[in-house]
Amino acid sequence: MIQAIQKRSLGKTDIRITPIGLGAMEFSGGKGMIKYLLAPVPPDTQDEVICTAIENGTNWIDTAELYGSGYSEISVAKGLKAAGVKPEDVVISTKWFPILKRAKSMRKSARKSIERLAPYPIGLYIIHMPYSVSSVKTQMKEMANLFESGLIRAIGVSNFSKSRMIKAHEALEEWGIPLAANQMQFSLLHRNIETNGVLEAAKDLGVTIIAYTPLGQGVLTGNLHHSPTLLHYMPRLRRSRLSRQLEKTHALIETLESIACEHEAKAAQIALSWTTTYHGDTIVAIPGASKTYQAEQNAKAMRIQLTSEQKEAISSISLEL
Ligand SMILES: NC(=O)c1ccc[n+]([C@@H]2O[C@H](COP(=O)([O-])OP(=O)(O)OC[C@H]3O[C@@H](n4cnc5c(N)ncnc54)[C@H](OP(=O)(O)O)[C@@H]3O)[C@@H](O)[C@H]2O)c1
Repeated sequence: MIQAIQKRSLGKTDIRITPIGLGAMEFSGGKGMIKYLLAPVPPDTQDEVICTAIENGTNWIDTAELYGSGYSEISVAKGLKAAGVKPEDVVISTKWFPILKRAKSMRKSARKSIERLAPYPIGLYIIHMPYSVSSVKTQMKEMANLFESGLIRAIGVSNFSKSRMIKAHEALEEWGIPLAANQMQFSLLHRNIETNGVLEAAKDLGVTIIAYTPLGQGVLTGNLHHSPTLLHYMPRLRRSRLSRQLEKTHALIETLESIACEHEAKAAQIALSWTTTYHGDTIVAIPGASKTYQAEQNAKAMRIQLTSEQKEAISSISLEL
C-alpha cells in the first residue's frame, strides 16, 4: 500500500523532518579518515544524488565537519544550490568533532561549518561522539550559547549512552532548550539501543533517534549477497567488515525480498521502512547513497506501509542473527 509522506517533529522542537533524510558521509571525496571506508563519489553524481533525494520528498541532509574535513558540507551546499533548493526548504544536520577538543572550540567549528554550508543554515548541531575533554555539562553550555546566538536551531548528540544522553538533556533544561536528537547506529543488523536503555530513555524524554548506517553499509540491500564480486571494488576495511556479515544474513535478506515483492519494492526499502516505523515516530534514518537510483529508492521507501505482521516477521528473523 502507498502512503503520503508524513513529516515528524525533530524531538520537541518545531523543526519538521521526513522519516528518511540523506546521509552525506558518502560525499567525503576520498579525503580524511573516511577514505578507508568509502570510495569518492564523482562531484556531478553527488549533485544528482542530492537533487534526486530532494525531488523524491526528503527534506533533510546529515553531514559532519569530519566527513572529508569539510568536503561533505561544501558538497551538500553545492548540490542543494544546483538543485535550486531554498534554504528555508531544507534542514541540515552537521556535527562537531570532539576528540581531544574542549567545548570552547565548538563556536569556531560551528562558524566554519556555517561558512561551508552557506546559504543553508545549521538546523541541528550534533556532538559527533562522547569523547570531548570537557564534561557533558560544559559541552551543553556551549551548545546552548550557540543556540541563543541564533547560530543553530536545535541541539543533538551522537553515540551517547543512556546516562550521557540523560545528562545532556538535564543540562539543557537549565536554558529551557530540549535535547532534540541522539544519532545512533540502528538497523536490522544492529539493535543494541533496544536493550541498552537508549531507545526507552529517548521515548521518555521525547528525543528523536537518528538511525545511522540503517542499511548496514549495503548489506541489507541484498545486492552483495547476489553479486559478492561488488566487494572487490570497496576499500579494504569496508570489504572485510561486510563480507563477515553476508553469510549470516541470507535468511533475513530472503524475508526482506519476499515482503518487497508484495510491495513492488526492493529489500533496501523494506529495511528502511521497518527501521523508521517499528518504534512509532521515534526513529528516523539517514541512509547514504553513492548513486542516484539509491537516493530515489531510499526516499520512496517513505511511501511504503508495512503491515504489523510484516514488521513482526522482519523483527523476529533479525533477532535470530
Ligand atoms: N554519527 C555517526 O557516528 C555516524 C557513523 C556512520 C554514519 N553516519 C551517518 O549515517 C549515514 C549513513 O550511514 P552509512 O553510509 O555508514 O551506511 P548505510 O546508509 O547503511 O549504507 C549506505 C551505502 O549502502 C549502499 N546503498 C544505499 N542505498 C542503496 C540502495 N537503495 N540500493 C543498494 N545499495 C544502496 C551504498 O553503497 P555503495 O556505494 O557500495 O553502492 C551506500 O553508500 C552517513 O552518510 C552519515 O551521515 C553517522
